[in-house]
Amino acid sequence: MKVAIIMGSASDYEVMSPAMSTLDEFGISYEKKVLSAHRNPGPLAEYVSSLKDKGCEIVIAGAGGAAHLPGVIAALTTLPVIGVPVKSKALMGMDSLLSIVQMPSGIPVATMAIDGSKNAALYAVAIMALHDQTLAQKLEQFRKQQSEKVLNTVI
Ligand code: RP5
Repeated sequence: MKVAIIMGSASDYEVMSPAMSTLDEFGISYEKKVLSAHRNPGPLAEYVSSLKDKGCEIVIAGAGGAAHLPGVIAALTTLPVIGVPVKSKALMGMDSLLSIVQMPSGIPVATMAIDGSKNAALYAVAIMALHDQTLAQKLEQFRKQQSEKVLNTVI
């Protein structure tokens, strides 16, 4: 298992699913888990501390509202943490975004766009491609296809 995808609630699943399909596309193994920083602080700490032994290299964490989950995970591990702010009902995800992006100095979280879980997976791929030549080639190919798709668009 190379990537752990953690979300604060089952209600985040839909937003987080593009991360899963993107990792599938690149053939990267991952584990997905619902664990809330405020509802399950103990089990979250236990799970995060088990990740390195499982071979996990990166954590993708999605949460909405106060969205402290990615920051708490980052505090519990030195693995890189990529945060996905989930669009909230009350504030359209601005609360989630600011919560995740404004981490105090010393514990970084790489913050994606609101509901940007696909980019979280692509960012994880880019990090892992630094030491995986096959993955680096797949990423180059992905970018090439994406570019061609735009160039071939007829309007
Ligand atoms: C956060 O609160 C979750 O990440 C979710 O985005 C939001 C709402 O959670 P539920 O009330 O739907 O469980 O903790």
